Amino acid sequence: MNTPHLSIHGLHAGYGRARVLFDIDLTIDTGTIACVMGRNGVGKTTLLNTIAGLLTPTAGTITHNGTDITRHPPHTRTRNGLAYAPQGHATFAPLTVADNLHLAHRATRRGGPELIDAALDRFPRLQPLLHRRAGLLSGGQAQQLAIARALVTDPTLLILDEPTEGIQPSIVAEIEQAVTDIAAQGITVLLVEQYLDLALRLADTVTVIDAGRIVHSGDRADLTDDTAHALMAI
Ligand SMILES: Nc1ncnc2c1ncn2[C@@H]1O[C@H](COP(=O)(O)OP(=O)(O)OP(=O)(O)O)[C@@H](O)[C@H]1O
Ligand SMILES: [Mg+2]
Repeated sequence: MNTPHLSIHGLHAGYGRARVLFDIDLTIDTGTIACVMGRNGVGKTTLLNTIAGLLTPTAGTITHNGTDITRHPPHTRTRNGLAYAPQGHATFAPLTVADNLHLAHRATRRGGPELIDAALDRFPRLQPLLHRRAGLLSGGQAQQLAIARALVTDPTLLILDEPTEGIQPSIVAEIEQAVTDIAAQGITVLLVEQYLDLALRLADTVTVIDAGRIVHSGDRADLTDDTAHALMAI
């Protein structure tokens, strides 16, 4: 049996009086790809922000690698192997691609410079752009940089929020391949993805959120395409 890598129990979260997530339970096994899906505004990013420590839950627990991280600040989570590439491919716009990678790498000190080489091997398009400012990259290039920045922290858990949003098909295919390879390396992946076909190809498990609650959770293998489409139409 697989070991749970991330366990979330009874999680509630929101912004001030606006309650967004209700009683979320989610368990992700080591080395698997968990896809979280749902329509706009149902709370997917709020869930990821809570797991990354950017938002404090009002109730519930988050356990990563056997440690209760619910009250840990974001940088402690990162040092312990949790990496987050937020929605909208956020990078440090004024810095070069190389400096973006070096800064992220130095911030965690989880491994040597070979992590940067490995990230560039994973996304070869970034190699000729190393001295370009991140703010000048195209959306697809910036997304690859955002994932590469997460990888140089040597994560055991990689969290990706809509990595294919607004990106042309050829780069979407490269990102899909990268996610497949990353998981094959043993890194657990938590992926929010609205592009249903892609999510169904990548996912080991599928969780669907609607109005802040989980309305479906299970193995991808147990989900027919018809059921998946029906769930996404909620
Ligand atoms: N900083 C914030 N302050 C107040 N409300 C917020 C904040 N961020 C998000 N919300 C609200 O929380 C709800 C969930 O937003 P969230 O970004 O988690 O949705 P999502 O599922 O990621 O949507 P999308 O698919 O558009 O990315 C929405 O109603 C949103 O307006
Ligand atoms: Mg979102």
